[in-house]
Amino acid sequence: MTVIATVRDPQQLRRVFGSFPSGVAAVAALVAGEPVGIAASSFTSVSLDPPLVSVCIAHTSTTWPVLRTASRLGVSILSAGQEHAGRSLAGRMPDRFAAVPWRSTAHGAVVLDGARAWFETTVEQHVRAGDHDIVVLRVHDLDAQHDIGPLVYYASQFHRLEQGEQS
Ligand SMILES: Cc1cc2nc3c(=O)[nH]c(=O)nc-3n(C[C@H](O)[C@H](O)[C@H](O)COP(=O)(O)O)c2cc1C
Repeated sequence: MTVIATVRDPQQLRRVFGSFPSGVAAVAALVAGEPVGIAASSFTSVSLDPPLVSVCIAHTSTTWPVLRTASRLGVSILSAGQEHAGRSLAGRMPDRFAAVPWRSTAHGAVVLDGARAWFETTVEQHVRAGDHDIVVLRVHDLDAQHDIGPLVYYASQFHRLEQGEQS
């Protein structure tokens, strides 16, 4: 009985889920000519052939129904110095991109300047999973800056992994 109560406690779940360190991704695209995006720590790589990645998006997201209408989605992996972008893209400001430098690809995906890495993607599959959707994305283009470290999200806080890849 105690175990069931604990598992159903969202605060406790968040705390324990937060034991797993993750990166922070910005999923973004141009919609009606304006950049639209959200921060997502649920990014994960899925498949090499075909190249697939995924994010989990809460059913409560008000941005996702708009964002998913874009033909291509940019997924930027935030770098150690992009904590501000991580907060901004999760925040309530009307223009989340006001102080976040970005560029758009020819296909309308939005990627952040200075990101650790970026992918240009299309939505391949939505899998309903509890109060989130697992969104599987197919990668069409990508690049990374191997000499800068990523932003890390751990225990509900941002951390910097300053070091780039070891050579
Ligand atoms: C570090 C961080 C990671 C987040 N990761 C996710 C995520 O993986 N999935 C998700 O649905 N929301 C995530 N969020 C919340 C969204 O960025 C956003 O705040 C939420 O969708 C509410 O905004 P919206 O109504 O504009 O979508 C995260 C927020 C932060 C700060």
